[in-house]
Amino acid sequence: MKQVTLIATAAMGLESIVAQEVRDLGYEAAVENGKVIFDAPISAIPRCNLWLRTADRVKILVGKFQAKTFDELFEQTKALPWESYIDETGQIPVSGKSIKSTLYSVPDCQAIVKKAIVERMKLKYGLINKLEESGALYKTEIALLKDEATLTIDTSGVGLHKRGYRVGQGEAPLKETLAAALVLLTNWKPDQPLIDPFCGSGTILIEAALIGQNIAPGFNREFASEEWSLVKQRHWDAAFGEAEELANYDQPLSIVGSDISHQMIETAQANALEAGLGDLIQWKQMQVSDLTIKQKDGYLISNPPYGQRLSDKEEVEKMYQDLGDIMQNHPSWSTYIITAYEQFEKAFGKAATKKRKLFNGFIQTNYYQYFGKKEK
Ligand SMILES: C[S@@+](CC[C@H](N)C(=O)[O-])C[C@H]1O[C@@H](n2cnc3c(N)ncnc32)[C@H](O)[C@@H]1O
Repeated sequence: MKQVTLIATAAMGLESIVAQEVRDLGYEAAVENGKVIFDAPISAIPRCNLWLRTADRVKILVGKFQAKTFDELFEQTKALPWESYIDETGQIPVSGKSIKSTLYSVPDCQAIVKKAIVERMKLKYGLINKLEESGALYKTEIALLKDEATLTIDTSGVGLHKRGYRVGQGEAPLKETLAAALVLLTNWKPDQPLIDPFCGSGTILIEAALIGQNIAPGFNREFASEEWSLVKQRHWDAAFGEAEELANYDQPLSIVGSDISHQMIETAQANALEAGLGDLIQWKQMQVSDLTIKQKDGYLISNPPYGQRLSDKEEVEKMYQDLGDIMQNHPSWSTYIITAYEQFEKAFGKAATKKRKLFNGFIQTNYYQYFGKKEK
């Protein structure tokens, strides 16, 4: 098998960024029903897992068909070439979901899909007894949407947001994939100053440093498909080799993170160290009202407290106001704030140049974007 159809799954609202990342890797991606889908050679599996900063997972699309009865689901699943992807000893857990479909019983759909795959595998591998299922993991999903069944196998293993650097976290850490998206949504370039005055465990700045030095986010972790014979060791070696070659460890960065909490600063420092960034990022304990800015043309990207408890409302308004007052004196700086606080612009004292709706987990937020003015 030379070509596969891949799906890069993404959090709602991030699909277009994931699609752009896939295109930047050289594949022609389309966004369909909130999924980024593309045909690619096998070598794309390691490359996408290593490089995609904003995708949740990379899955292989095994097949798609209409199914309104269990018979249709069984026969069409059995007709797909599972043996081309799954090794004889592969473990094949099947999960499922069903939305607006005639076949609504997810456990039954899972059981039928599992039975069909097992029958197909036994036939193709010439096995009489049941499958051993002692080898590599092939997490399979049956997703039904309006009677269309989509069958996929996950190549990633644990979600791609798990980069392997998070040794500690605070109360409300951003997912690494969303933090990377927040940076990619700006025009920040690695030679420009960047600060996060509510840095918490440092996710935004760590992701920015990885972007700034062109370090593949998956460099420090493992992927389920590393155990598969479909993806050859030479594909993995080539992808890791490419990542090593493209990393620009000499790129100087001017990145500063601060937070009111000593403990968070220690955590951020430990995470950055674990990410292999050493002391590339400067961390300091400080409250936002003490923020001073000396450089020009910088970027402030931040995820401040949202003030979701009523008692916190006044406190966050004051923080946003302090920040607005400070940034007003630095018109060459661009400010990017993600918050669920509806009256953010009022507190900050200025209407945003642009706003974008984003989900932080289940919380609906806005990404407020203030573009700096180039100084003449
Ligand atoms: C939503 S969390 C940031 C989480 C971070 N993005 C991460 O991924 O870990 C907000 C942070 O703001 C900090 N904070 C609260 N009040 C502050 C203030 N007045 N000045 C600076 N930081 C403050 C908190 O300690 C907390 O770490």
